[in-house]
Amino acid sequence: MVGQQITIKPYEPRILAFLCNWCSYSGADGAGKAHLHYEPNVRVIRVMCSGRVDPLFVLKAFERGMDGVMICGCHPGDCHYINGNYRAKARFVLLRKFLSDLGLEQERFRLDWVSASEGARYARLVNEMTNQLRDLGPLTGADRFSPYTYQSLLTPEVGVP
Ligand code: FES
Repeated sequence: MVGQQITIKPYEPRILAFLCNWCSYSGADGAGKAHLHYEPNVRVIRVMCSGRVDPLFVLKAFERGMDGVMICGCHPGDCHYINGNYRAKARFVLLRKFLSDLGLEQERFRLDWVSASEGARYARLVNEMTNQLRDLGPLTGADRFSPYTYQSLLTPEVGVP
């Protein structure tokens, strides 16, 4: 149409955050209650423990168009299920290497610890990741992360002897 202005929105990254129920979700809640300013780019999924995050959830998030995925749990030694966060850490290290082999930049996938009283820390992590992803730009080739391609590789088989 003649005379109509076309406005192009600047790129804004989309981040999916898996927050453990007992610490990190409360930390995020605390950031909100304290009216701390942080970027609105994060969508939250509350899980009971960071150890609950299946690698396939992460692949699916990237396949569905997320630009970054963040997992937050209780600090080491504070997990309410004793060692869920240690399991999350071990899985994270392997998965990040795997994703890096698929061409994913390391900044797009992170694991961190946030306690219930660390709202400010949560806000800082969100701002930091959002700014890093703004610099990186949108994720391209999301279909290479299809969880169905790697399901058999990443899901341990429960064999019947
Ligand atoms: S309950 Fe928070 S990491 Fe396990």
